[in-house]
Amino acid sequence: MIKVLDSSELEEGKSVGIEVNNQHLFAVRKDDQLFLYWNRCPHLGTPLEWEENRFLDSDAALIQCSTHGALFQIEDGHCLVGPCKGKYLQAVAFTLDSGAMMVEEKQLKQQTPLR
Ligand code: FES
Repeated sequence: MIKVLDSSELEEGKSVGIEVNNQHLFAVRKDDQLFLYWNRCPHLGTPLEWEENRFLDSDAALIQCSTHGALFQIEDGHCLVGPCKGKYLQAVAFTLDSGAMMVEEKQLKQQTPLR
């Protein structure tokens, strides 16, 4: 297992970009729950953030792609609006160990195709 983030560093309603093993992920905390996704838009595969650590829309209610503005539910990555409507961000499974978000290393090598 590899540590990707100390969850105490992520405040409610915020997002953070994560680089680990040359892979790019991001995490969001909403309603005190943590979510972890690949930083890759299902439309064109581009990184999502507007600027460093800014993955959310102005209300911090949805994830928003900076390229064409697609909007995704934070809870499951489902695209509600935009050119990839109906597709999903790819979630990364993690466990929490004393507040550390831990990911299996093999997961970081096995990015599955966009759906
Ligand atoms: S690349 Fe994200 S909406 Fe087009």
